Amino acid sequence: MTIRPVTIRPASAAAIGEAAAILGDGGLVAFPTETVYGLGADGRNEQAVASIFAAKNRPQFNPLIVHVKATDTAAVYADFDDRAHALAARYWPGPLTLVLPRHTDSALSLLVSAGLETVALRVPAHPTAQALLSTFDGPIAAPSANASGAVSPTRAEHVAQSLGGAPDLIVDGGPCPIGLESTVIDLSGDTPRILRHGAVTLEALRREFGPVDDAGTPGETAAPVKSPGMLARHYATSLPLRLEASSADPDEALLAFGEPVPPGAAKIENLSPAGDLTEAAANLFAMLRALDLPQYSAIAVVPIPDRGLGRAINDRLRRAALPP
Ligand code: TXA
Ligand code: MG
Repeated sequence: MTIRPVTIRPASAAAIGEAAAILGDGGLVAFPTETVYGLGADGRNEQAVASIFAAKNRPQFNPLIVHVKATDTAAVYADFDDRAHALAARYWPGPLTLVLPRHTDSALSLLVSAGLETVALRVPAHPTAQALLSTFDGPIAAPSANASGAVSPTRAEHVAQSLGGAPDLIVDGGPCPIGLESTVIDLSGDTPRILRHGAVTLEALRREFGPVDDAGTPGETAAPVKSPGMLARHYATSLPLRLEASSADPDEALLAFGEPVPPGAAKIENLSPAGDLTEAAANLFAMLRALDLPQYSAIAVVPIPDRGLGRAINDRLRRAALPP
């Protein structure tokens, strides 16, 4: 087996042009978004989309998000009702993914929907993602650019660590400002349902749009979860995670939040000394990686408030802590 070299280029106009050409040829490009890095392919090219699943070792039943330039492009691929238009007007471009009924005559690959009658669409706000969508001038299917089940990448080097040379090109746009994946909301039923908590909070959605079901928190809904990738262990570190820790053992690494920091750990990262959830979200995945070293026995994690962005942070931590 030949090992492919890793190619990382800063996000210049030339690199974006090269990335768009690779997508057009059916290749894979990792690129920054405001949430996490994505592993992109032409969303209309079945073969290219299949190679995303292969590169990530992702189960084929777990559908992908399709990134588009703007709402009018999204409406080419899915049914937009009034609720979808209102959410898109409020949050796009930005960290919200809409799950909508797929047009039956859609040019999109069938694999992106993994057999469902819906498609997940998002307009990213990151300037590099926007530039790539403009230059490529087509839909980009892109899950997070990490091996399936592992910690999501918030820097170009995380992509290289997780996927090696599987992407033909990694476009480096610096650290992702939000650091947690988009909120996924399902609009295919009567009441909107959050399938994954993210940067757009449940509180904000309920305040601005009325009733929203929470299917993103295990136990909060009786309805079966339609998003097949959601229940499994995910975002997993190599070390076990010990949540709700009030103290740390001398052989443990500690992920802290706010002050004071429980004493005794071998190594400490503090998500936000000031107790700010936005700062904590941006630091979460990079700090988990920094603590995930073989000389420690576990990563102890202090309690994080379960409100606003804290819900999305706790969701990632709980899934990461599930036994393998
Ligand atoms: O912030 C993000 O959303 C990042 C960046 C790259 O855009 N992408 C991302 O993709 O997190 P991924 O594949 O790691 O997560 C997509 C989530 C999965 O939980 C998947 O099951 C769900 O969205 N999903 C995708 N299509 C769906 C559909 N048609 N119905 C229900 N859930 C869907
Ligand atoms: Mg992911």
